[in-house]
Amino acid sequence: MTSTAKTAPALKVLFSRDQIHSRVVEIGAQITKDYTGESVVLVGVLKGACLFLSDLARNIDLDASFDFIAVSSYGSGKMSSGEVKLTKDVDTSLQGKNVIVVEDILDTGFTLTYLMKLLQAAQPKSLKIATLLDKPSRRIQPIQPDYFGFKIPDEFVVGYGMDFAEKYRNLPDICILQEGGH
Ligand code: IMP
Ligand code: MG
Repeated sequence: MTSTAKTAPALKVLFSRDQIHSRVVEIGAQITKDYTGESVVLVGVLKGACLFLSDLARNIDLDASFDFIAVSSYGSGKMSSGEVKLTKDVDTSLQGKNVIVVEDILDTGFTLTYLMKLLQAAQPKSLKIATLLDKPSRRIQPIQPDYFGFKIPDEFVVGYGMDFAEKYRNLPDICILQEGGH
C-alpha cells in the first residue's frame, strides 16, 4: 500500500509503516532486555519524536514514564544553524533515573549534543539516546545513538512525526520529500 504516494506525488516512501513497526518492536525488545529489573523515563523531543515515542513505549515491557522537552534551532527550512534553544524543559525530576532521550533524527548532532549536556546536569542514573533515524554522513558533532531505527543517506524525510514547515507529520510512512514538492 502506497496511499501516501498516491495523494502526494512529491513524496517517495522510504520506510513503510510495516517496516517502521517491525523495527520499533525490535528496539523496544532490546531496551526491555537492557534495562531488565529497572524503570525508565522516556524523554521525547517535541514535536518530531512523539509518534516514535508512543509506539516505542508500547513495546517496552518495563515500568516506564514519559516526559517531554522541546527545542528550536535557529534557522528555517531544511538547514539547522547549529544554535539550539530550549523552549520547553522536562516537568519531572530526572535525578537518579534511567533516562532515554527519544528523538526523531540524529542529523548534524547539534540538538542532541545540547540536550545530553542539559539532561546530564539533572544527574540521571543513566542517560541514553534512542533515535528513529540516523544520518551519519551529516554529522558535525561527535555523537552516536545508543539505539537507532534506520541509518539513512543525506535525504530530507517527512512523515511518522517528522515535518517540513510543520506539514506531513501525520503521514504513516517515512517519505523522502523530493525537490519541488513543497
Ligand atoms: P541536528 O541538530 O542537526 O542533529 O538536527 C536534528 C533535528 O533536525 C531533528 O530533530 C529534526 O527535527 C531536524 N531534521 C533533521 N533532518 C531532518 C529531515 O530529514 N526531516 C525532518 N527534520 C529533520
Ligand atoms: Mg526534531
